Amino acid sequence: MTATIVLLPGDGIGPEVVREAHKVLAAVAARAGREFAFEDHSIGGAAIDQHGDPLPPATLDACRRADAILLGAVGGPKWDDPRARVRPEQGLLGLRKALGLYANLRPVRAHPALAAASPLKPALLLGVDVLFVRELTGGLYFGEPRLREVAGGRRRAVDTLVYSEDEIARVVRLAFRLARGRNQRVTSVDKANVLESSRLWREVATEIAAEFPDVALEHQLVDSCAMRLVTAPRSFDVIVTENMFGDILTDEAAVFTGSLGVIPSASLGEGSRGLYEPIHGSAPDLAGRGVANPIGAILSAALLLRHSLGLGGEADLVERAVAAAITTGARTADMGAAPGEALSTAAMGERIRREIAAA
Ligand code: NAD
Ligand code: IPM
Ligand code: MN
Repeated sequence: MTATIVLLPGDGIGPEVVREAHKVLAAVAARAGREFAFEDHSIGGAAIDQHGDPLPPATLDACRRADAILLGAVGGPKWDDPRARVRPEQGLLGLRKALGLYANLRPVRAHPALAAASPLKPALLLGVDVLFVRELTGGLYFGEPRLREVAGGRRRAVDTLVYSEDEIARVVRLAFRLARGRNQRVTSVDKANVLESSRLWREVATEIAAEFPDVALEHQLVDSCAMRLVTAPRSFDVIVTENMFGDILTDEAAVFTGSLGVIPSASLGEGSRGLYEPIHGSAPDLAGRGVANPIGAILSAALLLRHSLGLGGEADLVERAVAAAITTGARTADMGAAPGEALSTAAMGERIRREIAAA
């Protein structure tokens, strides 16, 4: 059966990195004797420019019909006016919400050959392998009311942090299931010393833990977690946390790898259809120069193969090809390439596809 994959290149370096990941998927399909139908659709700033809407109905319809979606990045200075009525980021948030993609998996592994690219000491990084499970459709990102108003002649703005027990339970349960296939440890991160929503989070996480006697649960406050991430990163296995904390802690954890450009993610809901995207943004400073790292997008394609298409063997193949390219010295500029030796986005993609062909 043909699998339909929707490509949402988006803005900035998004189209550059998605192009390479698309070619990797095409190479894998040919090898596996599978047929993938690719459809390109617009999202984010590009969609605002074309349609006045960061998530046009045609894009959302195509995503609903697809088996899987691969996204580059959205946003950029062109659409950043704080008073703008529509923003590129609304397209991505709207898509996550509309498809019910409540869990965002962000695996962060420190590759030994990249230790020199990280500002952390190499000895700290040895064997670091953390899976973040970030809640993706609740919390501050979506809570109501959210508004801006003038009260008594002064401006004021409101965002709301709200979680229901069911929203917490489903994402925590997924984190426990995933921990079963790893090192059986879950760290639930909250701010229960201050926030009511975090106290509910902690209570529900403790109840869910009872369903998984084989998995150890610990709770940690988000501020001390932020420090422990860079002082003892090996002490974590699976980290589950709410939307905003997960956004912030995962960019911090990207430091383990030396570059934000290599971390993939999978956004999953109840069915098998998922949205796959590198965790980095549109990198306006690099856009249009062909120098961005495509590895985050390519590893997101690997997650797509595994979680939405049931092609675990092919996903392993892509991940091994990326590791082999890194081990044999392939580096884009952000990975600490020696002067004059940095690969372009396209050359890195090509190098990884050569490893796939040779496997
Ligand atoms: P960013 O992730 O775009 O960039 C942060 C830093 O990392 C920059 O120095 C950038 O050059 C570098 N970087 C990012 N991706 C890279 C790659 N693939 N290769 C090499 N270097 C890379 O974050 P930002 O600058 O804070 O945000 C820029 C825009 O991206 C904003 O509009 C923001 O809303 C948007 N954004 C989108 C997503 C997404 O679409 N999922 C994620 C984060 C930020
Ligand atoms: C991410 C991004 C998004 C988020 C933005 C662009 C809405 O930072 O995917 O990490 O905050 O979720
Ligand atoms: Mn982010």
